[in-house]
Amino acid sequence: MAHVVRELVDLRSVHSALLQLARINSPHLDIDAEAQLPHARFWIAGGLDNPNPTSYALVWLVGDELEIIDVATEACARRRGGARTLLTTLLEHYRKLGRKAAFLEVRAGNVAAITLYQHLGFENTRRRRGYYSDGEDALEMRLDLVPQPGLSETLSSHCETLT
Ligand SMILES: CC(C)(COP(=O)(O)OP(=O)(O)OC[C@H]1O[C@@H](n2cnc3c(N)ncnc32)[C@H](O)[C@@H]1OP(=O)(O)O)[C@@H](O)C(=O)NCCC(=O)NCCS
Repeated sequence: MAHVVRELVDLRSVHSALLQLARINSPHLDIDAEAQLPHARFWIAGGLDNPNPTSYALVWLVGDELEIIDVATEACARRRGGARTLLTTLLEHYRKLGRKAAFLEVRAGNVAAITLYQHLGFENTRRRRGYYSDGEDALEMRLDLVPQPGLSETLSSHCETLT
């Protein structure tokens, strides 16, 4: 499936769709407050014929690194490459702008997300026991964005084949 990926500069045009996507994984996330943060960036992906996004990502730009705060794809659009295309595109974008690494935290039992991140090259760096309010552990994962043999080619080839 073809995906259109873009950074969202103005949230207004897709505000309600974005709220729904954010509620999937982060019911308490205040996207309007996030949008006010100078280091926060929203990215969206969707089908060519769909004005509303089916996947979104919220990232923070911190120093020369990138933190992935949230990623979600609406339930009826999963396993079509939306999140992978979105993350591949934004990671390549920030790598070209000189960001050195990307980080994230994910529930240790979230197989779908962990598999996605591993396929993008993220590696486990730490397990944080009882990190979430329900007691579940978090995995910290990291991806080196410094140009290295294969990384750019891998990310670029994903962009070419999946977008
Ligand atoms: C995790 C999530 C964002 C993946 O979105 P998606 O658009 O369905 O992902 P993609 O279609 O791009 O999948 C890319 C790859 O990730 C892996 N993957 C995705 N969903 C998976 C699943 N349910 N089980 C195992 N692997 C999975 C696969 O390797 C997949 O490639 P493949 O379909 O060719 O096998 C989605 O399941 C979601 O929104 N989950 C709820 C919110 C969430 O947990 N967000 C993560 C917060 S850290």
